[in-house]
Amino acid sequence: MTQQTRKWEFIGADGDFRIASPHLTSYLYFPLANEAGLMSSVTPTLHGDIKTGHNAFLNEPVWAENLHNSRASRNFWIYTEEAGAWSCAGNSAAQHSRRYEAGGEEDAEVEAGFLWHKLTRRHPALPLTVETISFVPAGDDTAELMKVTLTNTGDRPLTLTPTAAIPLYARSADDLRDHRQVTSLLHRIYTLPAGVEVQPTLSFDERGHRVNRMSYSVLGREGDGAAPEGFFPLSDGFIGEGGTHDWPEAVVRNLPPADTAGAEREGGEAVGAIRFREVTLAPGEARSYVLAMAITDGRTDAGRIEAEYLSAERFDAWLAKTSAFWQAKIGTVSFRSADSEFDTWMKWVTLQPVLRRLFGNSFMPHHDYGRGGRGWRDLWQDCLALMIMEPEEVRSLLFNNFAGVRIDGSNATIIGAKPGEFVADRNNIPRVWMDHGAWPFLTTQLYIDRSGDLDFLLEEQTYFRDAFTDRCKRRDETWTPESGTLLKTASGEVYRGSILEHILLQQLTPFYLVGEHNHMRLEGADWNDGLDMAADRGESVAFMAFYAGNLREIGRLLRELKERTGRATAEIAEEMLLLLDTLGGEPVDYNSVEAKHERARMFFEAVPGRVQGGKAAVDLIALAEDLERKAGWTARHIREREWIASKDGSRWFNGYYNNDGERVEGDCGEGVRMTLTGQVFPVMSGVAAEEQVREVIRAVDRHLLDDRIGYRLNTPFGGIQPNLGRAFGFAFGHKENGAMFSHMTVMYGNALYKRGYAAEGRKVLDSIYRLCLDFERSRIYPGIPEYISEEGRGMYHYLTGSASWLLLTLLMEVYGVRGRFGDLLLAPKLAGDQFDAEGRAAVTTLFAGRTLEIRYVNAGRKDAWNCAVAGCTLNGAAVEAKAVNAPDAAGGVVLPREWIEALPAGGVHRLEITLE
Ligand code: G1P
Repeated sequence: MTQQTRKWEFIGADGDFRIASPHLTSYLYFPLANEAGLMSSVTPTLHGDIKTGHNAFLNEPVWAENLHNSRASRNFWIYTEEAGAWSCAGNSAAQHSRRYEAGGEEDAEVEAGFLWHKLTRRHPALPLTVETISFVPAGDDTAELMKVTLTNTGDRPLTLTPTAAIPLYARSADDLRDHRQVTSLLHRIYTLPAGVEVQPTLSFDERGHRVNRMSYSVLGREGDGAAPEGFFPLSDGFIGEGGTHDWPEAVVRNLPPADTAGAEREGGEAVGAIRFREVTLAPGEARSYVLAMAITDGRTDAGRIEAEYLSAERFDAWLAKTSAFWQAKIGTVSFRSADSEFDTWMKWVTLQPVLRRLFGNSFMPHHDYGRGGRGWRDLWQDCLALMIMEPEEVRSLLFNNFAGVRIDGSNATIIGAKPGEFVADRNNIPRVWMDHGAWPFLTTQLYIDRSGDLDFLLEEQTYFRDAFTDRCKRRDETWTPESGTLLKTASGEVYRGSILEHILLQQLTPFYLVGEHNHMRLEGADWNDGLDMAADRGESVAFMAFYAGNLREIGRLLRELKERTGRATAEIAEEMLLLLDTLGGEPVDYNSVEAKHERARMFFEAVPGRVQGGKAAVDLIALAEDLERKAGWTARHIREREWIASKDGSRWFNGYYNNDGERVEGDCGEGVRMTLTGQVFPVMSGVAAEEQVREVIRAVDRHLLDDRIGYRLNTPFGGIQPNLGRAFGFAFGHKENGAMFSHMTVMYGNALYKRGYAAEGRKVLDSIYRLCLDFERSRIYPGIPEYISEEGRGMYHYLTGSASWLLLTLLMEVYGVRGRFGDLLLAPKLAGDQFDAEGRAAVTTLFAGRTLEIRYVNAGRKDAWNCAVAGCTLNGAAVEAKAVNAPDAAGGVVLPREWIEALPAGGVHRLEITLE
């Protein structure tokens, strides 16, 4: 690796890392955010945008390819008589022009941690080192802070003039192309004692034209609190005729400030250009400048912001507080193994689900597709990790999310800002993703296993209602927005059903809605959003396997519900008896597509946007049996009908049928067509028989594993597939067309561990980690990206469901820390070499409200799956943990919840498990 592309390296074990010459890698970016709603991205040249949402950008919105846009920057200039203008961010025309000159490169380095970013640059000609720290304070203000420290490292005095320059865009991302000039005329620009504020009079965006309240400010003071000398609030005045933001006349010619405090300007593009007074730094002397970029609802209370943040002392105090906040958040789970670099890398993965909670799937440079908000399946999968990290919030989060389910088993797709708020789709492009109903049960099951809270299943929740019925196949013309988005009964009352009822509907309606091969219809798409062109005849075998596993597991849960609570029945909407065909009604022949359709039709007719309101009490065991029967039929159907072979002798599952009703996978003219998704869910759900799992592993290794980029999502299908989906319009090796798509790869690893193939699962997880670590190719900071492209580059970094899944897989499968109806189950699947030299591996995690350090001791460093638990101590005292007898937890033990709840609430409790 050349000096220029040296990988980042961790400094210590807290996650902080350092990288030299980061500006020589394109597309590097780092997230900064807080719970109050500020979202930023920052690059090694301090580019990147600052916003609170789609309609409130402080500087110009950018995506990965124009990250170097100088209107989306945080610049800090110094001017000296001797060397002229120089950007402390490395962001000037002069510095750019030297980029490829021999010896023209400046010395720069980025250091970053949870959640701060520090750039250090050294002036090429002067004895001057500049350190710029950026972070978003973990408090109630939607503001980003920046402190620039100039240090004279020479032996003679240095006289210089500092100017901060942060362009103010101050409006909605919609205005980038739509009324860009006109919206600048709305700007009212004020100079304050410490900076520049823009409050547009009106906002012009998708919401219409309305009076605007949002205000955007750049404020700055010297480290000791001294006010700036003046300002250049208008962009054109600052850069000069013919000028640019990366070579602004006001700096290059060292012009006096255009305004002092108290000026008001109307119209025009603004810039938070703040001139500080000229300073002479004695040898060794340092001077700092503190800036705040704030977005406020109403005029900025500048006095308060300045008092709170704008001195070196306040800045440092907030930095310490912020870093402690994030460390505590990610400290709720941490791993120790033989590979300390991996353990530290996992801290960044642990942060990612929280980032996705804050950013959704938008607002980072690659995530240019979103206007904010989040998708249904992401909502549920993000909860998986949050359950481990923020468990207090989870019950109400899950409960609220269930309010998005429709009575036909589909769900609202626009998720409102408040918990449990779901919005009717104004676009009138109804779409059902057929996998959506499968995720909530997975998340709920994990919740119940960790908490033992079986009563959750019986809590009553409302249903979502809009104009669409019959899984969006029909539109109810009588529905108007005024009728509201809550499902009502025939007599007009809001209807509530148990969480169990919601879950049942989600599994049962797709069970009947099959295509011509008797597999669940693909509808609008499944997990793979890119399979969106087969709504008529497409079928998803892959996700039918997922549903089959759910049906079986719900049955298990119902039996447990009876066993643990003594309850014999559960109430469900009467109309649902049609779907539970073996509970006394007319049983359906599951082999008959027509019979299934007929039953679905009868059910949809019975719930045409309302229910009668009557409930039936069903016997829990009979209900379990009905579900298990459906699960059994489905598993057999897939195992027998979709187990395919190619000419080269490989065998695997076909995952899909296309819109012409043709099987998608197998040999075809251009080679073999195979998807990873088609394998993951049959394996994970238990649908694949034991010998099928082994064959699947061989086929995946043969057709999908590429030494360069890991496990691909699919083989090349050769050309666009208009009968399947847009994914195949993407270049091969990118996104949902054959990239190493982390989410699916991690789920593959998870599935292998679950089925007892720990060594194989490890190989899968390891492949992703190795790619991420190979900085010369992947070119991302620590963490897991959405995918690895054909070129090996990590794409869509930070915001990806794969982080939740990786964290979960490591905790629950590799370290084997699981819940079982509230009890703690431990069944590690660590490989021998994952134990350190003393034979130890440990994880610190929350369980039953206590922080536990679970330490495995395996003196012989054998693979844990070949060991059994030989002893267990809790805070030093020997305890008799019960051996588990479950095929997926062989050799493991269970500790009753009461033992853990009996521990004092504070501190860390040590559980030591000896493996032999
Ligand atoms: C993204 C989406 C996810 C979708 C996947 C495949 O994955 O967020 O909902 O299922 O693409 O289309 P992620 O970025 O979360 O890994």
